[in-house]
Amino acid sequence: IPTEIKRICCIGAGYVGGPTMAMIAHKCPQIDVTVVDINPQRIAQWNSDELPIYEPGLDEIVKEARGRNLSFSTNVDQGIDQAEMVFISVNTPTKTFGVGAGRAANLEYVEKCARQIARVSTGHKIVVEKSTLPVRTAEAVKRILSSGETKASFQVLSNPEFLAEGTAIDDLLAPDRVLIGGECANAIESLVNIYANWVPRERLLTTNLWSSELSKLTANAFLAQRVSSINAISALCEATEADVDEVARAIGTDSRIGPKFLKSSVGFGGSCFQKDILNLVYLCEYFGLPEVANYWEQVVAMNDYQKRRFVTRILRTMFNTVSDKKIGIWGFAFKKDTNDTRESAAIYVCRDLLLEKARLDIYDPKVPQDQIKRDLMWALTDQGAMSSEQAQAAIEENVRFADGCLPSATDAHAIAVLTEWDEFADVDFQAVHQVMKKPAFVFDGRNVLKDMDLRQLGFDYYGIGF
Ligand code: NAD
Ligand code: UGA
Repeated sequence: IPTEIKRICCIGAGYVGGPTMAMIAHKCPQIDVTVVDINPQRIAQWNSDELPIYEPGLDEIVKEARGRNLSFSTNVDQGIDQAEMVFISVNTPTKTFGVGAGRAANLEYVEKCARQIARVSTGHKIVVEKSTLPVRTAEAVKRILSSGETKASFQVLSNPEFLAEGTAIDDLLAPDRVLIGGECANAIESLVNIYANWVPRERLLTTNLWSSELSKLTANAFLAQRVSSINAISALCEATEADVDEVARAIGTDSRIGPKFLKSSVGFGGSCFQKDILNLVYLCEYFGLPEVANYWEQVVAMNDYQKRRFVTRILRTMFNTVSDKKIGIWGFAFKKDTNDTRESAAIYVCRDLLLEKARLDIYDPKVPQDQIKRDLMWALTDQGAMSSEQAQAAIEENVRFADGCLPSATDAHAIAVLTEWDEFADVDFQAVHQVMKKPAFVFDGRNVLKDMDLRQLGFDYYGIGF
């Protein structure tokens, strides 16, 4: 097994595959990196000036390496064939059907990759699990790779990704750690050698395969648990005149607790926290550990409660009806600096407001309107709440899109801030107050306008946890 890799292929040109491979190509000009995907539109976007994902700093890195040692292609077979190391970075969504529906990870795409690698490969290949996977998936991957007619031989490594969207490039440039799990010292070393081009050796952690797989689910579960914990306290703060940001600061200065990830919000979103916790819950049940499963499930239950609670507060404050009232929605992405809306709290808040027959005027600086419409269609028809025709009509009648904060606020009874975009703090709130109906309600689901003296300007201002 060579420990100096010259050609890499990554299957899956998504939020993880694209940026991580761009970073490897950027930092390792001696390595040829090909990212392949079955979605031709996505590949075309990676090859254009308009990349498929918005991520600060990504454009520069892709443009610098593309055409030199970074390429994007739909030719998956060729990509696999030519590489010594193949990353699997495909999506692993929550299963929506059959056994484990709503909880277990859908491993269909990972398994298809493993079968394709087995079919195409000759010689020796190192297969790297980059996707987030249930613990012991590598066992299945190894069995698939070694079954059938294949003449090739394989080593499987686990190398979960810890980047967060919106800060992906910074996270990849200076990761807290890179985790590599495996069974073969040479294979591990070959991957260590790649990251060592820019990551200090002491940050390259090596473990056995199963610890590596399980650490990824555990890390996300712990991070989400912190958000749910502070959100639980936010409800108590609202009932007691304590202020959740003060409580967070007070506990976060204890070095054992630490200050990060204690920002109370309308609820965590993103493609992974909920999916990974539910996967963990499913695994615990599978291994006969119902108490452990119940413990982690509460993190998701608390998050659902927080999203519902936000809408309930809007309703109660606005005299128990928002029917036919215009509400300006500021932000739809699941966090700032990304165009990603997967599991965004905004989807659920907007759905519940639409079910209350509110009229929404949505502004997000990065999320395309079509994406928002698709998200709302899904949410309104989920579990049969509405038929497709009803949902379509509700969206056509009651959803508008604004190209800025002020138009979104014009003639609105309320504003709901759902993403913490920096530009919201630069808005002229005197002008906003003038164009709104009175009383002018602001519900700040991110506490980003807390220091703007909105109450003094005449707004009825409500945040989270105070
Ligand atoms: P994504 O949906 O953005 O991208 C996955 C890509 O894989 C898609 O473009 C899809 O077309 C492609 N694909 C699926 N099956 C394929 C196949 N058989 N052959 C070729 N291409 C195929 O997903 P993502 O957000 O990049 O996440 C990928 C994995 O990384 C998931 O397991 C996720 O849990 C994990 N992860 C995500 C993040 C994040 O911030 N998004 C962070 C860390 C880990
Ligand atoms: C998260 C993890 O932070 C990454 O380490 C991990 O790699 C990734 O999931 C993944 O596996 O997909 P991401 O979801 O991109 O990254 O973004 P986060 O910054 O973690 O935010 C997640 C959600 O929690 C957002 O909706 C954010 O607004 C919310 N959040 C975060 C809070 O409400 N309060 C906080 O203090 C922190």
